[in-house]
Amino acid sequence: MTTIAKGLEGVLFTESRLTFINGAEGILTHLGIPIQEWAENSTFEELSLALLDGKLPTAAELAAFDAHLKANRAIPEKLAEEIASFPKTVHPMQALRTAVSYLGLFDPQAEETGEDARRAISIRMIAQFATIIAAIARAREGQPVIAPRSDLTHAGNFLYMLTGKEPTTEQARLFDIALVLHADHGMNASTFTAIATSSTISDMYSCIVSAIGALKGPLHGGANEAVMDMLDEVGTPDQAEAYITRKLDNKEKIMGVGHRVYKYFDPRSRVLRDYAEHVASKEGKSTYYQILETIEKVVVDRIGSKGIYPNVDFYSGTVYSDLGIRKEYFTPIFALARISGWCASVIEYSRDNRLLRPDAQYTGATDAHYTKLQDRQ
Ligand code: ACO
Repeated sequence: MTTIAKGLEGVLFTESRLTFINGAEGILTHLGIPIQEWAENSTFEELSLALLDGKLPTAAELAAFDAHLKANRAIPEKLAEEIASFPKTVHPMQALRTAVSYLGLFDPQAEETGEDARRAISIRMIAQFATIIAAIARAREGQPVIAPRSDLTHAGNFLYMLTGKEPTTEQARLFDIALVLHADHGMNASTFTAIATSSTISDMYSCIVSAIGALKGPLHGGANEAVMDMLDEVGTPDQAEAYITRKLDNKEKIMGVGHRVYKYFDPRSRVLRDYAEHVASKEGKSTYYQILETIEKVVVDRIGSKGIYPNVDFYSGTVYSDLGIRKEYFTPIFALARISGWCASVIEYSRDNRLLRPDAQYTGATDAHYTKLQDRQ
């Protein structure tokens, strides 16, 4: 009897040395190192290089990588002009998908698929994603696009290009931690999509454009914006319990909770919650935070037994919102971080490539014959 793995749940299709997840216990490691240690000690730049190379870099390797990223922050002028001409009504993820595809047109190496080329393109894309996303946001808000600076960190420079103001050290570091937390996560839908595209020996830009499309949906990266929509719909903390109870009674999904792999708290959500709590202890609890606290309690009480707990998207929005970022940019920010995991995973898979080509059990007609158009009812 054929067994169908609906949603490919539990299917192993490759080996990877990058990321390990124990969903039952809420454990996540990159290169064997717990995510909490990466968040506390590392930077997005370092984790990106570690994922690309499969090892912790030396100080000299990291300095060279950082310089390389900084040198590649600028985007082609034609692309900046194109971004400025996008309709203001399109979602920033639509704009990002188009902009990255367009970026590939200016890269003379774009069609090369050897490992060296894939790596060189990856580094450029990691650097340029920040500039592209900030430019999309500025253009959409009717503000002039801001050129990158090379004296700021990747996170600090992004916030500067987005807001026009140099962030404080604390703000830049907080955003950096959020990027670290989102940089890679095993065979999630968008990474798998990138790999599926690369498995045909397609080019790096096609892989990443495919991945952006997969990340965009509300069951994956789009959930961080959907959580904020939900919080805005709830309105005030005193409405939260009734709102969630109603949704659960109607068998509707709550955004930002549940995960295919985690059947306990997603460790990334704990780091983000700790930060949100830290802010709340200093500045008082924001409305968003108070609503989230109630939702978490109701969800864990009602459906925690089914393995439904907050995921990374649950608290990330409050952190971005504390930094003054609008919710439409939350999913592009997810892409800003996940570009590293996408690239590293494509490169790793390409070393021992095999075309990804699953199958479906055929349940259609078996004895049909062609009927001429004029004879059909
Ligand atoms: N709210 C309420 N119930 C839920 C939720 C949720 N968010 N997620 C799962 N469930 C319930 C389902 O109703 C189902 O219950 P049943 O067995 O009684 O029918 C059971 O849990 C299993 O749900 P599935 O949808 O089959 O689980 P799956 O592994 O396919 O889905 C997913 C995982 C898509 C993440 C799901 O939990 C979900 O839709 N969550 C909300 C969207 C979200 O936050 N996505 C971000 C995920 S993290 C990331 O991609 C970065």
